[in-house]
Amino acid sequence: MNTPTVGILVGGLIYSGIKTNRSNLEQISFYEEACIQYGLCPCFFRLKDIKLETDQINALVKGDKGKYELKVITIPKIIHNRGLFFRNESKIKIKNLQKTGVIIFNDRNRYGKWGVHEILMKNEELQPHLPETKRASSLNFIEMLEKHKQLIIKPSGGSLGGGVVMVEKKDSEFWEVCYNQKRESFANDWPDIIRKKVLNKNYIIQERIQLAQYQGSPFDLRVSVQKNGLGEWQVTGVVGKVAKIGNYVTNVAKGGTCKTLTELLSDYSDLDFNEVYQSIEDFSIKAVTELNKYFPNLADVGLDIGLTTEGFPMFIECNCRDLRITFKKAQMHEVWKATYTTPISYARYLFDSKII
Ligand SMILES: Nc1ncnc2c1ncn2[C@@H]1O[C@H](COP(=O)(O)OP(=O)(O)OP(=O)(O)O)[C@@H](O)[C@H]1O
Ligand SMILES: [Mg+2]
Repeated sequence: MNTPTVGILVGGLIYSGIKTNRSNLEQISFYEEACIQYGLCPCFFRLKDIKLETDQINALVKGDKGKYELKVITIPKIIHNRGLFFRNESKIKIKNLQKTGVIIFNDRNRYGKWGVHEILMKNEELQPHLPETKRASSLNFIEMLEKHKQLIIKPSGGSLGGGVVMVEKKDSEFWEVCYNQKRESFANDWPDIIRKKVLNKNYIIQERIQLAQYQGSPFDLRVSVQKNGLGEWQVTGVVGKVAKIGNYVTNVAKGGTCKTLTELLSDYSDLDFNEVYQSIEDFSIKAVTELNKYFPNLADVGLDIGLTTEGFPMFIECNCRDLRITFKKAQMHEVWKATYTTPISYARYLFDSKII
């Protein structure tokens, strides 16, 4: 029997890395090992390599000498999307390819934070886990200032922690805005930075979750939630990101450091690890199941989840192209590897199920 080929759709940078054997954004050997385990053969290509006029594609496949070579092959029937596409024509191309019967999972991987919030809010069970969120506008900002001690204003589209501003109430008349490690206090006259963001419809205003802390810095969690070899959602791993001293964003791109949950909970002796883990798992599975109703090909997400000091999970955002690097940085080698193996096991499930 022939070994079926699974396609991994990647961006230009990763593609060049594979070609020159220097890919450090994706751990190619993990895809290879997972494919051996599940009886599949991986090939890598970019969206621009797909020509809809033909069912053939020029893809990178490992040759006899152990190096990746370009080969003309039939477009794989199952494709795991690891690219980020912003242009409308890319989305149309993917849709047209799907119309030919090809399954592309995680086809869309950018969803606005506002849209995701609206979907999750529809489910009553999830509501307690969602910080109050409003679209940016002057009126909403005034309302939120009155209701909450601390606010986060951030772009609805991704930012890797950039553009995220914190506003804090100081007393009945004064607030302070924090951004780029600077602080500025204000009363009725809003500083330019506030004005700019509050008047930008692509921003959201959110109640700041009182995040649990590790050695005096707030932390949140990256939770890898993926479809597995049974076609079911599972939590593949949980890792913590601790903000740099004095910062309120935990992003690694902003100096955050990665730690295991066990380490992060060591200061919270009253919290039971298993109970906290279970509630993170329960919430995460419920949240992605809900999102999956609206995004049918969703199969691999990295949720950002905050923990309160009581160990209660609070939703921050859903990343649909998790770089999985946080697990590596926390030295969670097995979990890091599993974040690559699980989507391949899901590809195997799709090959074996009646879908294809
Ligand atoms: N409501 C909130 N309460 C507390 N902290 C928050 C809140 N929103 C964001 N943060 C902090 O800011 C960080 C960045 O925000 P978020 O994850 O929403 O966007 P992002 O990582 O910049 O977006 P993307 O991953 O799409 O680039 C979070 O990891 C968290 O540490
Ligand atoms: Mg984030």
